[in-house]
Amino acid sequence: MLIDLIAGARPNFIKVASIIEAIERAQNEGLPVKYRLIHTGQHYDGNMSGSFFEELNIPAPYYNLQVGGGSQAEQTARIMVAYERILLDEPCDVCLVVGDVNSTMACAIAAKKIPGIKLAHVEAGIRSGDMTMPEEINRIVTDSITDYFFTTSETASENLRKTGVDKSSIFFVGNTMIDTLLKNDSRLKKPQLWEGLKLENGQYIVLTLHRPNNVDDPAKLTQLLDTVATSAQGMKVIFPVHPRTAKIIEEHQLIASGIYTITPLSYLEFNYLVKYAKGVVTDSGGITEEATVMGVPCMTLRDSTERPETCTIGTNELLGTDPQNIPPAFARLFAGSWKKGGIPDKWDGKSADRIVSTLLAIYTDGKAIV
Ligand code: UD1
Repeated sequence: MLIDLIAGARPNFIKVASIIEAIERAQNEGLPVKYRLIHTGQHYDGNMSGSFFEELNIPAPYYNLQVGGGSQAEQTARIMVAYERILLDEPCDVCLVVGDVNSTMACAIAAKKIPGIKLAHVEAGIRSGDMTMPEEINRIVTDSITDYFFTTSETASENLRKTGVDKSSIFFVGNTMIDTLLKNDSRLKKPQLWEGLKLENGQYIVLTLHRPNNVDDPAKLTQLLDTVATSAQGMKVIFPVHPRTAKIIEEHQLIASGIYTITPLSYLEFNYLVKYAKGVVTDSGGITEEATVMGVPCMTLRDSTERPETCTIGTNELLGTDPQNIPPAFARLFAGSWKKGGIPDKWDGKSADRIVSTLLAIYTDGKAIV
């Protein structure tokens, strides 16, 4: 069985790292599985892509489609054209896509239209209900053509069943991003800025913002940054700035006083920073999962989440995007009354093994057991 693993943007690299390791473990046991890693090139900077390959020991991609940035349609179209070309020459048996980025949807469509190729989606079934997010559209389109659905929660499985997906194609396996985090916990690296900024455990806040809703309007972004800075009451706020946000800050010469803006950190450095933070303020989805597993209080500046278990079980809380909700949340954090949180079911480091053994079972005897 030849599996194409699709990775295009930063969160994808973290998820495929554990799947590659699981495939290699299966190969070492003599099981009949091979893979090709296809990097679409959606993210291309050293600190958005290269450093993840180095730190997580991800092998060089079999192909790099080098599509780069562009509008939603341009990027999606370029990925589809380039990946289809590969598949027409050298088809795979299974195209495995992860997450909800443009690369996920583009490769899913290209593969599904080629007879004989099955489509597997890792992180299937999650829904925010917010159709203004490109990721929500990517999730719905991808799941509408997927053959094998691998889910991170029972809620995600239930979402799929509600849309009529047969339960025999839904496999609740847990979270591959958490596989990678648990595996690398002891390798997390103190970031270089730690000494320079005189950081201390539990004495700083980590901030990340990159959603178009929060960052594309410079007035809104300024208001969010100012409110976080004042709510932090003098505690240092470290803000690794995503390229999308960096462009807006630069173009409009925004100054966020009281906030330390830095370039994006590598995986091991970023998660070290989160692990020892007093709290995290973010609009990312993946970071809410990582903060949950590390037991770090997490404030999400969004109105909805496709990962409700990070709130119902984990340390995450949805504050919405109105800046006035931020100060009371910080007050609770400083008062020590933030909920402790637990770990969602099957977020145990074995999710990628479950995915690979399920696919092997399907291919060797037509049945799968999780
Ligand atoms: C993408 C994903 C989002 C994910 C995020 C993680 C979609 C629709 N969105 O958003 O779900 O949470 O990645 O980071 O797929 N850029 C660089 N260097 C890079 C990468 C991007 O300069 O290495 C620039 C691009 O050229 C573009 C902007 O940053 O101008 C945004 O990149 P893009 O991949 O389009 O979307 P993200 O906002 O990163």
